[in-house]
Amino acid sequence: MIPANPTLQPKRTFPKEVYLNGEWINSEKAFVSVFDRGFMLGDGIYEVTPFYDGKPFRLKDHLDRLQYCLNEVQIEFDAFSLQEIMWEAVSRLGFSQIDCAVYIQLTRGVAPRTHFFPEQIQPTILLYAFPVSLNEFESKQASVLVSNDLRWQRCDIKSISLMANIKANDQAHSLGLDENLLVRDGFFTEGSHSSIFFVKNKMIFTHPEGPHILSGITRKVILEMCREMELEISEKALHINELKDVNEVFLTGTTTQILSVKSMLLNEKEIFNRPEVGQVTRQLQEALIKLTRSLS
Ligand code: PDD
Repeated sequence: MIPANPTLQPKRTFPKEVYLNGEWINSEKAFVSVFDRGFMLGDGIYEVTPFYDGKPFRLKDHLDRLQYCLNEVQIEFDAFSLQEIMWEAVSRLGFSQIDCAVYIQLTRGVAPRTHFFPEQIQPTILLYAFPVSLNEFESKQASVLVSNDLRWQRCDIKSISLMANIKANDQAHSLGLDENLLVRDGFFTEGSHSSIFFVKNKMIFTHPEGPHILSGITRKVILEMCREMELEISEKALHINELKDVNEVFLTGTTTQILSVKSMLLNEKEIFNRPEVGQVTRQLQEALIKLTRSLS
């Protein structure tokens, strides 16, 4: 078995304060009703936005995605009204000079339990900042599990109902692995909390946007960087049988950055092994560092 790599597992603590429905509250005293539809039904949307050295990266893209998801599930709320509060979260929690991320969650609100959407209820809004390590990803490699994608058909919605994702991730974690790469009908979709890229004969492949993946903001940035660097890209899903010809695999995401994949395990067999960070991965890592460390 591949040994555990605890360095890639984040250690998280509770934030001191959270913003809940218009107020900043000591997190030990922040409560929501047991009839909140987020608690009862997983009826809510979330977003995670990175702040490098205290400065937001692609804030508009993150808020656009939040707005898209809220609209898709008919939670009426202006995502952009949270912009100032995000900045405030970073400074209140003392992260203005360091790397952190802002977590936003909106549930439909509190109502007697029904399967239909109740009318005229106020969404529950939770927001806080938390420290996150956004550097040194280039010196690491991930060992991952590969398993069936058991999620629903609207993975483009960043729903708080994450049972299939967390079950998949925990399966990897319990084997000492860092992520679980999901396969639907033989094609790689994405990781439990990251997007996937493959480099095959100098061509970079990633799953096309649509209902089977989250439209990752980091994924979008990588594709922009590839175009600028004149690297060839194909937004086409890669079949598991094509893996033998793949030179490099890397994962991307807000908390993942660009992480090279060292090995893949499927049904207890190693199906991929690249013990070095590949050249294209390295090039993109350097470009991302340049981009995120020159924010104003
Ligand atoms: N996850 N795919 C899935 C399923 C994800 O959950 C995430 C991010 C990504 C990458 O998206 P982005 O580049 O916009 O972060 C792809 C967040 C960070 C989370 O759940 O905490």
